[in-house]
Amino acid sequence: MAATIIEGKKVSARIRKELKPRIAALKEKGVTPGLAAVLVGDDPASQTYVASKGRACDKLGLYSEIILKSAGTSQDELLDIVRQLNENDQIHGILVQSPLPSHIDEMTVTLAIRPDKDVDGFHPHNVGLLLLGRPALISCTPFGIIKLLEHYDIDPEGKEVVVVGRSNIVGKPVAALLMQKGRTANATVTVAHSRTPDLAEVTRRADILVAAIGRPEMITADMVKDGAVVIDVGINRVEDAGTEKGYRLVGDVAFEAVADKVSHITPVPGGVGPLTIAMLMTNTVTAAEILTGIDS
Ligand code: GUN
Repeated sequence: MAATIIEGKKVSARIRKELKPRIAALKEKGVTPGLAAVLVGDDPASQTYVASKGRACDKLGLYSEIILKSAGTSQDELLDIVRQLNENDQIHGILVQSPLPSHIDEMTVTLAIRPDKDVDGFHPHNVGLLLLGRPALISCTPFGIIKLLEHYDIDPEGKEVVVVGRSNIVGKPVAALLMQKGRTANATVTVAHSRTPDLAEVTRRADILVAAIGRPEMITADMVKDGAVVIDVGINRVEDAGTEKGYRLVGDVAFEAVADKVSHITPVPGGVGPLTIAMLMTNTVTAAEILTGIDS
């Protein structure tokens, strides 16, 4: 059986296109949605992510400010930047790229961001609303996974979903979304993680398997049920002397072997990744609509 390859780029392009009338309605009333992305330090992967967030804003005609600070920036300096952005009417969405240098406490910074500008959906206020089934700004990668399922008419209702990984930015929120009452939800959700004794026994139960562990190609074909839907959230750099950059990107799933036995699978790159940025753009527009009271 040949699996359907879930084309994240295509879904991301559709979502961005659908944002255009909402952006136009805001602009008609004199509001250009604005995103500020703050990067502290010089982590190359973070630099790439932040640059692509800025480019995505440009392409959609959103205003963006990319604020680059050296690794030695103090926590107080960063908190000052966040407070200024909280007060800046041109900025509707604020994100501080993680990871932050170890002398800065991420939670302190997250708590300083106004919840109604928290386009990452990381603030405890937004995490709480998500868990209560009343989401406002939803964390971008979990939100993107829901959009992928919707686009491919994959209804999780009544299905066994296994999420591998319990991070605050993917594992926990995607589990919370899929177990809610409502559309593209109503699933029976199990969260497995590094302390799960027999991981393969759990993952083999999954009708929908979400891999978000951050370990290259850890999910092998024997761990997956025939005909399952596999969502691979991993983006791992593995050394490859044969490539120009000296590395290649692989997911948490051994793609070739798993693709042979499942019904749908996301590739890496080009699967979940493009959705994260599309949902960041969506959240920025949503935040602008809520903050200004302008709704199309
Ligand atoms: N680092 C890796 N992914 C993300 C993300 O979605 N948001 C932020 N702020 N930092 C990240």
